[in-house]
Amino acid sequence: MQALDQAKWIGTGHLDTAILPVFEREFDCVNIQKAPLVITSLGMYEASLNGKRVGKFIFAPGWTSYATRLQVQRYNITSMLKERNTLEVSLGRGWYASRLGWKDRHPGGQPLLLLAAIHLKQKDGREAQIVTDEAWSWHRAPVVFSEIYDGEIQDMRHLPPEHNAVSVEFHAKHMLIEQEGEIVCEQEMLHPQSIHYGPSGEIILDFGQNLTGYVACRVYGHDGHQVTLRHAEILHQGSLYTENLRNSRPEFSCILREGRQQLKPRFTFFGFRFVQVLNWPGEVHPENFTAIAVYSLMERTGTLHSGHPKLNRLFENILWGQRSNFLDVPTDCPQRDERLGWTGDAQVFIRAASYHYNVKRFYAKWLADLRADQFSSGAVPAVVPNVLTWASREPDRNFGDACAAWGDAVCICSWALYLAYGNKELLARQYGSMRSWVDYIRNENAEDDSLWVARGKHFGDWLGLDAPAGSYKGSTDESLIATAMYANSVSILAKAGNILGKDIAAYEKLHGRIVQSFQKKYVRGGLLKAPTQTGYALALHFGLLENSQAAADALAEMVLENGTRLTTGFVGTPYLLHALSDHGHWELAYSLLLQEAFPSWLYAVNRGATTVWEHWDGIRPDGSLWDPRMNSFNHYAYGCVSDWLFSVAAGIRPVEAYPGYRKAIVAPLPDARLGSLDVEYKTPHGPIRSAWACKGGVVRYQVAIPQDVEAMVVMGGKSWEGVSGEEIVFEAPYR
Ligand code: BGC
Repeated sequence: MQALDQAKWIGTGHLDTAILPVFEREFDCVNIQKAPLVITSLGMYEASLNGKRVGKFIFAPGWTSYATRLQVQRYNITSMLKERNTLEVSLGRGWYASRLGWKDRHPGGQPLLLLAAIHLKQKDGREAQIVTDEAWSWHRAPVVFSEIYDGEIQDMRHLPPEHNAVSVEFHAKHMLIEQEGEIVCEQEMLHPQSIHYGPSGEIILDFGQNLTGYVACRVYGHDGHQVTLRHAEILHQGSLYTENLRNSRPEFSCILREGRQQLKPRFTFFGFRFVQVLNWPGEVHPENFTAIAVYSLMERTGTLHSGHPKLNRLFENILWGQRSNFLDVPTDCPQRDERLGWTGDAQVFIRAASYHYNVKRFYAKWLADLRADQFSSGAVPAVVPNVLTWASREPDRNFGDACAAWGDAVCICSWALYLAYGNKELLARQYGSMRSWVDYIRNENAEDDSLWVARGKHFGDWLGLDAPAGSYKGSTDESLIATAMYANSVSILAKAGNILGKDIAAYEKLHGRIVQSFQKKYVRGGLLKAPTQTGYALALHFGLLENSQAAADALAEMVLENGTRLTTGFVGTPYLLHALSDHGHWELAYSLLLQEAFPSWLYAVNRGATTVWEHWDGIRPDGSLWDPRMNSFNHYAYGCVSDWLFSVAAGIRPVEAYPGYRKAIVAPLPDARLGSLDVEYKTPHGPIRSAWACKGGVVRYQVAIPQDVEAMVVMGGKSWEGVSGEEIVFEAPYR
């Protein structure tokens, strides 16, 4: 990258890689017309010029597959310059050098390095450059410890001045890329809603909302006094519950100096709603504490209000699940020792996510990391960036690399983005990666490439409730899931290839053979031989059955026999309501949506959830908790139901042949139990509004289509073609 050609990587050169340095450079300048700071680091950086923070990107340079992709940021610092300037850049370990995963899969500890240049252009045309080199110095930061999983310790006492010589390191630059993703910023600020006293008198602040971020606070302190904030998602028996955070330490500690001071973590984050305040000097005043939500800056695109307060709360929980887990990378959860870009979770949630926020750049960057980390065999790692099996060149099949529904993220996410935003270039960039994935499955099943036989570790219908005792995997056959997901990926690949003008004949044929083999192996008399809700949801949604109505009726029967309760896990849940409502069982789909008894979406709402839980039974009806080894209260996966709310209940859907909503379908599906629904979705061509209200046996529909969208509107048994720049209000009897 040209802007950084002259700059050298600098580090402390110290053997102790735990030291968190602040690199410093003083420089003079006059009559500056333009001064961009171009900067990146191995580790996280925070730059300040003359004591003021540069930019609002926190956790820069973001999280990518660092060996091949490291983002570079550019800041315009012209207005911050004085004649005499001090640029300081603090480094934290961040995702680059923190331990990640468990059992030392990514042990961290690499030396932190900085690379930066300021291009000074004077008004008289003269130019100069300040670049990272031997002229910089470094000193220790007040941040004395910081890790992604293990919190942060700061020492606020004034440190003796230090000017250590930097060490110039010969490190590669080939992986430098321009900023691709959205920047991560501080967003909502929340104040404690109450103070709670635990059984041993612990002081616990309740911020009323589970979120990802940290707490900023003000304190009047005494030199050397240490205060600590401990974070947790829930209280259990009145105390902070941290067992489910496994091997991560949710603490922010500060050694205070004398006097008034402001405290805030710099290079770490927590998943929390409750904060225990330890060793506070004097009384704890809630107004001195602010929880700050941090996540990628995305444009909000979807709003939803219904006549059902609990459903509205569920929707809020889903949004908070997205905010909490869109921290530069789509992560599974923000609190325990994971916080990783699990591919399966990402594909489950992407359609819902794209209704709520504009996620085009966010996912495009992550898909580029997926491409970078894809194994040469075409296998897709279980997490991206791949920090878990990063050391091996080949997928670790005993770990879950190349597993159905996880690896399929490459096809599902690429296609979801194409439909939502109509970006053909992105599809073209993704095509090779999608094809390698499909070819990988073919090669793995060379003896009969029309069936995917699950060998090695698959995650199955992860956390499905029909799991045999002691298992995390629902009872749907892993190879059935694998073959169904394979069919879907091949179908997406063929559609994408067709759009891009590729020769797809072989993949179309392959798809036909997979469907036939699926039927032969898993279907008898039109129904699944080993029926499960997830099996039916997949087979129906992916069009794998001959008589789909009979199968959907059988699925409906299963749901009813189970007391109108679902049993699906990560794999089946995104498609369950669709499979029902697409085949006339819309009332049952609504019954599942509005079910309040365990297990259901609203069960968690009734138990006071403010985000979406990883498990349907994270807190069981008797108040006991699921096994702490796997019990996050902030996993977005089951929030995928929002896709059904937008695309079926409000009926706003893209048209495949005109992606990105150049053409749309708006076909709302009212249900009196919900009362009313009012949804707005800002498509790339303007906002579509779909609202309905049921009253006295009549439904009043209201649909507004912007000028640049051409929609087919279907409501109350009537349809309107080519609607654009128009609002239609229509009343019809309720069914
Ligand atoms: C994560 C999941 C992930 C799974 C793989 C878990 O530990 O939290 O969300 O997809 O592992 O099965």
